[in-house]
Amino acid sequence: MSPERYERLLAPLELKPGLTLRNRIVMTGHTDVLAANRAPSERQTAYLARRAEGGVGLLITGGAGVHPTSGAFEEMPDPNPSDPAVLDLFAHQVEAIKAHGSVVIGQLYHCGGQSATDYFTELPMWAPSEGRGMLSDLIAHAMTQREIAEVVESFVSGAVNYQRAGFDGVEIHGSHGYLIQQFISPLTNRRTDEYGGSLANRLRFAIEILAAVRAATGPDFVVGYRHCAVERMPGGFGLDEAVEVARRLDATGLIDYLSVSNGTHESYEELIPSVYVPQGKPAGYSERITAQVDVPVITVGRINHPRIGEELLASGAADLVGMLRALIADPDLPKRIEAGDLHGTRPCIGLNVCATRIHLNVPLRCGVNPRAALEDLPEPDVPGAGRRIAIVGGGPAGLEAAVTAAEQGAEVTLYEGGQRVGGMLLAASRFPVKAEFAGMVEFYEERIAEAGVDVRLRAEVDALEPLLDEHDAVVVATGARRDASPWHDRSLEPDLPYDGPLYRGSLAELAAHDVRGRRIVLVHSERNDHAALTLAHHLLTAGADLRIVSSFGSLTAAMDQPFEHFFSKLLAAHGTPVYAPAAVLPSSGNRVVIDHWGLRERIELDDVDWVVSSGRRRTSLPADARALFDAGRPVQMIGDCVAPRGLEQAIREGRGAALEAIAAVAVPANA
Ligand SMILES: Cc1cc2nc3c(=O)[nH]c(=O)nc-3n(C[C@H](O)[C@H](O)[C@H](O)COP(=O)(O)O)c2cc1C
Ligand code: SF4
Repeated sequence: MSPERYERLLAPLELKPGLTLRNRIVMTGHTDVLAANRAPSERQTAYLARRAEGGVGLLITGGAGVHPTSGAFEEMPDPNPSDPAVLDLFAHQVEAIKAHGSVVIGQLYHCGGQSATDYFTELPMWAPSEGRGMLSDLIAHAMTQREIAEVVESFVSGAVNYQRAGFDGVEIHGSHGYLIQQFISPLTNRRTDEYGGSLANRLRFAIEILAAVRAATGPDFVVGYRHCAVERMPGGFGLDEAVEVARRLDATGLIDYLSVSNGTHESYEELIPSVYVPQGKPAGYSERITAQVDVPVITVGRINHPRIGEELLASGAADLVGMLRALIADPDLPKRIEAGDLHGTRPCIGLNVCATRIHLNVPLRCGVNPRAALEDLPEPDVPGAGRRIAIVGGGPAGLEAAVTAAEQGAEVTLYEGGQRVGGMLLAASRFPVKAEFAGMVEFYEERIAEAGVDVRLRAEVDALEPLLDEHDAVVVATGARRDASPWHDRSLEPDLPYDGPLYRGSLAELAAHDVRGRRIVLVHSERNDHAALTLAHHLLTAGADLRIVSSFGSLTAAMDQPFEHFFSKLLAAHGTPVYAPAAVLPSSGNRVVIDHWGLRERIELDDVDWVVSSGRRRTSLPADARALFDAGRPVQMIGDCVAPRGLEQAIREGRGAALEAIAAVAVPANA
């Protein structure tokens, strides 16, 4: 394979005299909920240091809330701790990151009217003006000028603490709809004093913070600013005003770089764009800003392949590229780019398990990388040589188990009923919007081939007993099947026959049908069901005349935050009727009868081509699996065949089961 060169990404950049980034790749600031008692934990340090070890040029830690009223998330380190010993933990973290050659900057924020502090600290939310908050629906308190000065001071003390702890600099978070942006935006700032009204007034708070931080930390400390290019909120600011803000901030001479991001928590498709947003699309907004300012500009937005980063640098859209989620998925990406060989890269596929978890205030994990944010746990030393492991099922759980066991040296046979491995990843990749999932399938295909896994395709395994004669352990990863029934999961009579116009093919095959103009009713009854989202997206963009029946209070309420706003807007743009909470009733011919519980109404739709059901997943197991497991035989069940869940659980359990299966087998005498 010819080496892949990404010269621009690999070019160093001098941020300050004597402070040079080894490349243009940035791990942008992110909440990881990995702190312990609001101090840096060993887990967090190991997680960050692992990315530095992988070669990232600039690593930005945090965001961290500067003030008791500032946080939207639990368990982020406090940059203004009452216990000075916490600063030693920061210093230890910085040292661990710098030991691997990354420049390290700490991000400070105040979430303002998005802080939801009431839930954690029972303090009111602070914002420029009174009004409904975005994340929490709580009503914010309009800050007094004394409170404004108090928050400015808390940014300063946070920055000074970071400087003492050895950070190379600080980043002031003026984006994502947080407090500073709330002051800048005419949508959220309705003040009539010198902090409201004209742009100069709305910028006053940001500039006061930057000036005070610069004065306190001196000329050698890096001061960066995270800036929003497009709010995408009715009444908010657009790119023209964002360019002007950037120009004015640059002209102050107070900042060393601008990090440009987009969106708020109500325009999430710009903020942390998921797989439904084209790769690298939001990153392009920075181009006009870069053209207008002297300081280096970082851009972000689903830059999950170095090719996209290289193109953005070449086009002049930015000087540095944020590749946060690409680095969560594969911390070694910068080193791979440097080596000119991307072979073996775990791709970030934009499922936003990471972001979803953060909003639930639980520690970060990754849908494709089972080691992410668990790097403090030692790699288990379980030599597999001489062990014979059978894996039944070639979906993500089985593939991860096969790769893990084979790479430990075990002799692995993988039985897959289909013609190709990949399971739900392969099925999803048939839909154009998820075509990049094929990259994950290819990743596994390469890894199992390299690790010498014996793959048996079209091999249906109905019983495990015969496999136990030939193998030391069997890992069952047979997944779940979706049945075509239109009844939602809690229907009293879920096995009732249905004579209506039911689509009975596989959901993946639906991608190949011409659905233009077809009248389709999509039945949805599982929370955050990615298949339902993919189907809705596909059917709408492919021109179907779609209606959705959801057993939840609303379709979007059943989705996690990273998808909620995107789908609300998509459905609104297509004028898609959503009946919720509702269920399909028995009917025949091409008529569909919907029982709308909310309206206490029956709705009849005629001329329906198909009722497509997404929401009935049932576990699928070889007949003797449970009995063998109960009998204490070396059989493990993992992933969706235990209970239908997500990719993250499948992959994590795959890895865990492989290691356990090996460890449980006695060491062969001749090993
Ligand atoms: C789990 C998670 C937490 C995040 N938390 C923050 C944060 O605290 N501060 C911030 O500026 N951006 C935060 N972001 C946004 C990222 O810095 C970045 O702008 C966004 O993920 C898009 O870049 P990417 O496509 O390279 O991931 C977060 C993103 C993720 C995935
Ligand atoms: S969870 Fe998904 S979006 Fe987040 S880093 Fe991992 S692969 Fe990317």
